[in-house]
Order: sequence, then structure tokens, then C-alpha cells
Amino acid sequence: MARAKLLVVDDDRNLLEIIKMRLESMDYEVTAIRDEEAARQAVATQVFDLAVIDLQLANQDGISLMEEIHLMSPDLPAIILTAHGSIESAVEAMKRGAYTYLTKPFDARELSLHVDRALENRRLSSEVNRLKGLLAERYDFKNIVARSDKMRQVLETVARIAGMDSTVHIHGESGTGKELIARAIHLASPRQDKAFVAINCAALPENLLESELFGHEKGAFTGAIRSSRGLFAQAHQGSIFLDEIGDMSPSLQVKLLRVLQERQFYPVGSEKPLSVDVRVIVATNRNLAEMVRQDQFREDLFYRIHVIPIELPALRERREDIPLLADYFLKKLSTQMNKKIKGLSPAAMQRLMLHDWPGNVRELENTLEYAVAMTVQDVITEDLILPGKAGTIEEGLQPLTEARDAFEKGYLVRLLEMSHGNISSAATMAGRYRPDLYALLKKHGLNPGDFKK
Ligand SMILES: Nc1ncnc2c1ncn2[C@@H]1O[C@H](COP(=O)(O)OP(=O)(O)OP(=O)(O)O)[C@@H](O)[C@H]1O
Ligand SMILES: [Mg+2]
Repeated sequence: MARAKLLVVDDDRNLLEIIKMRLESMDYEVTAIRDEEAARQAVATQVFDLAVIDLQLANQDGISLMEEIHLMSPDLPAIILTAHGSIESAVEAMKRGAYTYLTKPFDARELSLHVDRALENRRLSSEVNRLKGLLAERYDFKNIVARSDKMRQVLETVARIAGMDSTVHIHGESGTGKELIARAIHLASPRQDKAFVAINCAALPENLLESELFGHEKGAFTGAIRSSRGLFAQAHQGSIFLDEIGDMSPSLQVKLLRVLQERQFYPVGSEKPLSVDVRVIVATNRNLAEMVRQDQFREDLFYRIHVIPIELPALRERREDIPLLADYFLKKLSTQMNKKIKGLSPAAMQRLMLHDWPGNVRELENTLEYAVAMTVQDVITEDLILPGKAGTIEEGLQPLTEARDAFEKGYLVRLLEMSHGNISSAATMAGRYRPDLYALLKKHGLNPGDFKK
């Protein structure tokens, strides 16, 4: 790929020189300019990939220069440099179209992180439109239930980034669907016909994990009676999913870093490096940034894998997905178990809506599996839902306000479900006036349109 071209505008000669040097050392082509007029000239005559503009220039403020630049080159991402404490201008800059801002003083790493992200994002957004259309047709994520805004955003990100080779970092509590999303990324990518290889880094002791990942030569250790290819080699031209990456030992972290940087690795007991072309997707339910702060996870590796972060929300933060997920699992499970099930009784659904779901979607699936297996009727009743669990002390007591809010949201979701998003009938069922109901829906971020049949 050609080197990215950056425009830097700052009237402070020293700072301009420092930024230029730093960016050049990151292998970017840099045009450094002190005066606004020359900057306008440059944008009119050359194509840049990114602009870095100081907030306070000699004759004009940086935000209005950015706006003028955007008139000529609307897609050019701009990073605005703001002085310490001027958060208002930073917000203003973002509102008026800056990609992001950087507060002075900043160090080389912050600069490189923001610049890399902005450039990545630019590559992304030019890919967005092409991919969006393409993917919407080719891949509709039909095995992924997503009604909540949060989950829809996740799927949108998946669609946008599937076509790229950048590393993806999926973070979410256990059972939120990390592996499901990792597979979806692979299946929506041009690598879809090649292997998707998954491994749980927490499940194996260090030396076994190493030879699983990188393979080994015959005789590399006791028991290595023949050489093995390892998962990275198996995933060549496909994707590899490293689950529970936070549990990887420090020495393996170093080796992984090397693969990510150089796309090369040494099988255990071998002197000859192997080259691979793999899309790496990692996941964890731990807070890696925090682990970095506590020196339990390498900072350089963190930045390598954190290129595209995807945050999977806990099920309790998106209760509006519960009825849809329940339907989906009921259909799937009753087919599997060859049972005719019409649905859940209202009280059974109520239990699902009120539970806290520490085990997230997986726990919901297991709950329904038990219910479908046990039921002798075609409607599942509440006694089969979380027996001995719902509403007991086991779940711990929430503060009253939280409990009331959770109940209210659950109630509203049910209401919209039953009225298929029709506000008049929902208001009648709830015995409320429509404006009251609207206010409540707004409070909980619910959109009746999402519940239309
Ligand atoms: N949005 C969803 N739609 C349909 N099924 C889902 C959804 N999210 C999760 N599931 C299902 O829930 C189960 C758990 O998902 P998955 O294994 O991907 O979670 P995970 O985050 O990797 O969990 P763990 O941390 O326990 O490894 C799977 O059977 C998966 O298919
Ligand atoms: Mg998993």
C-alpha cells in the first residue's frame, strides 16, 4: 500500500517540527504547514489522507480552517489539537466534523494511536458503502438475534469490518455471544471459504497451548512423535479465534505479538520461521486495559489487538432482546427435541424478563432447553422457568430503584411485544394515556417501531 499522506497545520514552529518528525518516523508522508492560506492551497492541489490541525492558528481558529478544508475534501478526517483544559473547544470541534481531538501535551504513542485509528477509519468508511450493500444481500446474520440498538450496532460494525484484515478484539461477559460474532465476522469476510479455527487459551497449559498454536517438529519434546502443523498454519488464508486471550502467559504473549507484527512464527523445536496470512480475532471477558495497568498483559500486544474493539453488551442491558431470543431458541429447541411448542405463558415470559442473567444468552438458552425438555404441555408455564431461582435471595437484592426500573422496562417490552408496537393498544392495555406511555418508552430507550410485525 502507498504511504499515507498527512497534512499538519500549526503556527508553532517547534511543535510543527516535532509532530512532523514523529509522524515521519511512523513512516507517513508529511506536509507541515504554518499558515492557513498555504494549507488551503495544499488541500486544493493535493490529495491527503488525514489532516492534523492546531486549534489556534495565527489568523484563524483551526475548526473553521477544518470546515473550509472539508468544503474541498469532505471525507478528509481531521484531528484537532487542543490546549489542556479546553474541553469545550474539543467538543465543538467534534460537532463541526473533526474525527477526534488530541489534548496537548501528548506523547508519541497517543499521536500514533489516533492517527492510525483515523486512517483505519478512513479506509473503513470508503469500504463501508461498498460492503454494506454487498453484505446486506449476501449475509443477513440470520442466526443472530438482535433487536436492541446495542446489538444492531454490533452487527453494523461486523458488516463494516468483515472485509478487512485488521485484528478484532471482542469483549463481553461470558455467554454474550463472542464466539458467535467471531464466526459471523469470518463468514462475512472474503475468507469465508477458508478455515475458521477457534481455541480457548485458558483451557490449556502454556507449553501445550504453544504447540497447539504454532505446531512442533518431530521430537521437539517428549511425546512429539511426529511433527504437527499447529492452528496458525491450519488457519492460513482463513481466520483464527483466540478466546480468553487475557489468560495467555507472558511468554506466549511475546510470541503472539511477533505473529501479529510479522505474520511469522517458529514451530516449537524449529529454526525455520513459517509465514501465514491469517485474520486474527481475539476475545475476553476480562478487562485487558486494566490488566495492562496491573502489568498482567503486555501493553504493546494490547495495542496490536485492540485495533477494532467490539463490545458485546450483557443481556440484562438489552432486555428487549429477550422475547426475540426466547422465540428463536424455542423454535430451534422444539425442532431439535421434536416437540410441538406454541410459546411461553405470560407469567413465564415475565420471569425471563425479570431475571438478571449473569450467564447471559447462554444461560437463557439453557433455561429454555430445560423447559422444553420438561414440559408436557404445548405452552411453557412459569414453574419450568428458573425453578427455585427466580425471585429468591439467590439473585441478591437490587436497590429498589434499579429493581423498579428493570421491572418497568421488562413490562414495557412485553407490552410492545403484545401490541406489536401499536401505541394506542399498548396504552389501552396498560391503562395509561399515550403521552405517558411515550414518556416511559423514551425513558427506557425503547422504540415501538422495533416491535412492528
Ligand atoms: N444474539 C444471539 N442470537 C442467537 N444466539 C445467540 C446470540 N448470542 C449468543 N447466542 C447463543 O448463545 C450461546 C453462547 O454464545 P457464545 O458461545 O458465542 O458466547 P461466548 O461469549 O463465547 O461465551 P463464553 O464466554 O461462555 O465462551 C451460543 O449457543 C450462541 O449461539
Ligand atoms: Mg466463548
